[in-house]
Formats: sequence, structure tokens, C-alpha cells
Amino acid sequence: MVQTNKVNPFSLQKKMRTLILGGGGREHALAWKLSQSKYCDGLFVAPGNAGTAMLAENIPISPLSFAELADFCREQRIDMVVPGSEEALVAGIADRLSGLASLPSLHIVGPSQAAAQLEGSKAFAKAFMQRHGIPTAAYRVFHREELEAGIAYLRQHPLPVVLKADGLAAGKGVLICRDRDEAIQQFEAMLRHEKFGQASQRVVVEQYLEGIEVSMFLFTDGHHYLLLPEAKDYKRIGEGDTGLNTGGMGAVSPVPFVDAIFTQKVETRIILPTLAGMRQEGYPYRGFLFLGLMVVNGDPYVIEYNCRLGDPETEAILPRIRNDLMEMFMLAQQGKLHQMQLSFVDEHALTLMLASGGYPGNYRKGLPLQLPAHLPEGCYLFHAGTARQQGQLVTAGGRVLAITSLAKDLPEAKAKSLQLATEVQFEGKYFRRDIGWEFLSDAASQK
Ligand code: AMP
Ligand code: GLY
Repeated sequence: MVQTNKVNPFSLQKKMRTLILGGGGREHALAWKLSQSKYCDGLFVAPGNAGTAMLAENIPISPLSFAELADFCREQRIDMVVPGSEEALVAGIADRLSGLASLPSLHIVGPSQAAAQLEGSKAFAKAFMQRHGIPTAAYRVFHREELEAGIAYLRQHPLPVVLKADGLAAGKGVLICRDRDEAIQQFEAMLRHEKFGQASQRVVVEQYLEGIEVSMFLFTDGHHYLLLPEAKDYKRIGEGDTGLNTGGMGAVSPVPFVDAIFTQKVETRIILPTLAGMRQEGYPYRGFLFLGLMVVNGDPYVIEYNCRLGDPETEAILPRIRNDLMEMFMLAQQGKLHQMQLSFVDEHALTLMLASGGYPGNYRKGLPLQLPAHLPEGCYLFHAGTARQQGQLVTAGGRVLAITSLAKDLPEAKAKSLQLATEVQFEGKYFRRDIGWEFLSDAASQK
């Protein structure tokens, strides 16, 4: 195969009509990036939010209503569907919508249902990693009939111990137990009483890894892949990484300790064997792949695979990518991703998530929202939970807005994002002021 870094312009003449699925900050960032593509010819978001409505047409269809989506794609001559979150991919949208006789050229940017098991089933992902020698925490899987064996296993397991519901549990299915009785009680609640519904019919009991987390992302056509910028996500609601887990309260990119040596370890120990293993087992992985890694003494371990980009990591990494994202999708569709080389801006991105008071518990919606009149150079405002009610912008979710700033260093990016965060107004507004704390020497910034 002739390797070239130049894109053959004749193979990408078409312009694409694209439908993004989802309605959060990640999907607004994807819409923002795709709307700049020279290959973009019509952009729709289902269901979208008030931010995506400024760049694209919002369509009131659920990402899981495949029949309705197929009708919409036919009517609107959609060429490409970009699922933002995992639900539609794990439910098999790539198999259901591509290859339909009535939609012969529709392309879904994401893995098949079989390949999406990397996220859809933690038991699958763990066994896959074991088969292919990919570094991950030691584990055992227990079914409902194995409750007693599981309890016996927990009685002798070192603490802390990690319990994971096998299936999708909206980010809530992982419990880190520091107390043995609590671990046994939670294990029983998951297996016997289906604490996380169907998702906890099987439970992974996993060794606790002590280290620092980092999110790495790649995009692949099954054979070739491109490494996207990495990010660090801040999942806890409270400053100092305390309190309940959330979808993510902020992110930074790049992550200072992700250097060439670390990246090479991730590529040789994790990415290459993952892609080769998926091909060997008959379900080549295509689309975005998110590696949730724990770094232990400089070595990467897979905590989880996700079959999509992260939120809010996407809001931090997309502004750093110089390339045309649509071109990347089109080349992948043709299996020619090797023809592209990514280039990133050197600047540091810091994303703050502005949340509704009470989140991740109960919170109010429909509160009037005021945005800054002016966005300084290098600042981006991505809507997450927003809507319009009689023309008025209002809050419509737990995570309301993501603010990303790019600057020459992290302290400056942080100062810009904090300034904008104070200018946004809605009742109960909450955000963390310590995003990026490990990488900021200024003690005041850790407050
Ligand atoms: P997840 O829902 O899979 O993203 O997991 C939630 C969080 O639990 C992760 O972001 C980690 O902080 C933590 N976690 C998961 N597995 C482990 C593990 N084996 N050791 C330590 N922490 C873990
Ligand atoms: N921010 C973590 C995730 O998207 O899974």
C-alpha cells in the first residue's frame, strides 16, 4: 500500500449531510467543529440543545429511536450519523442503520454492536484484555448464581475493593469499597437486588489501583488510528476531588505527564493489541475509542474502555485539533485514515463545567440563563443542559454549560475560564475553582 500524508482530493469530493446524536456539551462541541468543515453540507442534531440550535437544526428524535432516525436520514438524505454517547452504539445503531437497502450509503461513525461491547459489558472488556495481555486490574466476574462464592471471594480480598456492574449504568455502576462489610452488602445489593437493574446481573470484582487517572482518545478505521489529544477529567462534585461522582466537572488538555515515553507505552501495550485483538476476534473496532487509564508508577492500566468521546473532555480537546474532523470521518469510511496526520495547537485548554445547584442530586430546571456578551479570543462556550422557552435561554440539565479557554499555559487558561464562569448568570450556578490543581503550582489555585 502506498503511504502518503497527502489527502487525495478526488476521493473526498462529496459534501456530507450529517446528523449528530445527543444533546450535551460534547455534542455541541462536535457540532461546532463539524460546522467548520469544508465538507459539511447540512448539519442536524437529535435532540440537541440551545447551543447546537445556533449551528445546526435540532430534531426532536431520541438517539435510541432507530426507526425514526432511519426515516429522517432517508427524508433528509443524510450521509453520516455521529453518535455522541454510548447508548445508541451499545444498542447496535451501526448494525441497524448501515447496510439498509433504503440507505445504502449511510455511514455511522462508531463501532458495531459487537465491538461496542468493549464499553457495553465490563465482563467482556476484562476477558478481552486478559486474552490479549492488555494491562488492567486483576478481577473476577460473578453471576447471580455465584453469590456465595462471590461473598467468600470478597472476604479475603484486599481493601479497598472495586465492584462494577457489568452493563451500562449511566456512570453510576462503579463502587469503591474501603470497608469489607460494606463491600459484601453492596455486592449483594447489586447481584441479589439488581441495584443497577439489568446492568448488575453480573458483577466484576476488581483490584483497586492506586494512581493518577488520564483519558486518552483515538479514532480508528479498524486498521489505522490517529491519537487525539489526551485530557484529565475531574469527576467529583467537590473541590479537592471530594463528594459524589458526576459526569465530569472540568478537564485539562494536554496532561503534563503524558510524554512521548508514556504515549509509546499506551500505543504498544494497549492500543495496538486492542485493535489487533478486535480484528482477530471478528469485530474490528471503528470509531472513537476512549481509554480510561490509571497510571501506576509510570505504567498505564486500562480502567475502562468507552466507545465514544468523553464529556467534558471533548470540549477541552476539540479546540486543540487543527484538522477538519469531517475529513477524518470520510477518510475512515474509506479505510484511508493513514492519509491523515493530525496537528494540535500547542496551547493549554482548561474546561470548567457550570452545573445546576444540587447536581448530581436533585436540581431545578427552567431557570433563566444569561451569557457573557463577549467571548474573548481563545474562549469557547459549549451548551450542555440548556433550552429555549419562549425565546428565553434557560437551564435544562444538571450540567449546564462548559467553558473552555486556550492559553499559552494552564494558569492563564484557568484565569480566562474562571473569569467567564463568573460572568455567566443563573440561579444556583456551581462550578469547581480547582480544575487542574495537580498541575498548578500556585497554592491559591488549589483553594
Ligand atoms: P467508571 O464509571 O468506570 O468511569 O469508574 C468510575 C471511577 O472509579 C473511575 O474514574 C476511577 O476513578 C474509579 N475506578 C474504577 N476502577 C478502578 C480501579 N480498579 N482502581 C481504582 N479506581 C478505579
Ligand atoms: N468524562 C467521563 C466520560 O465521559 O465518561
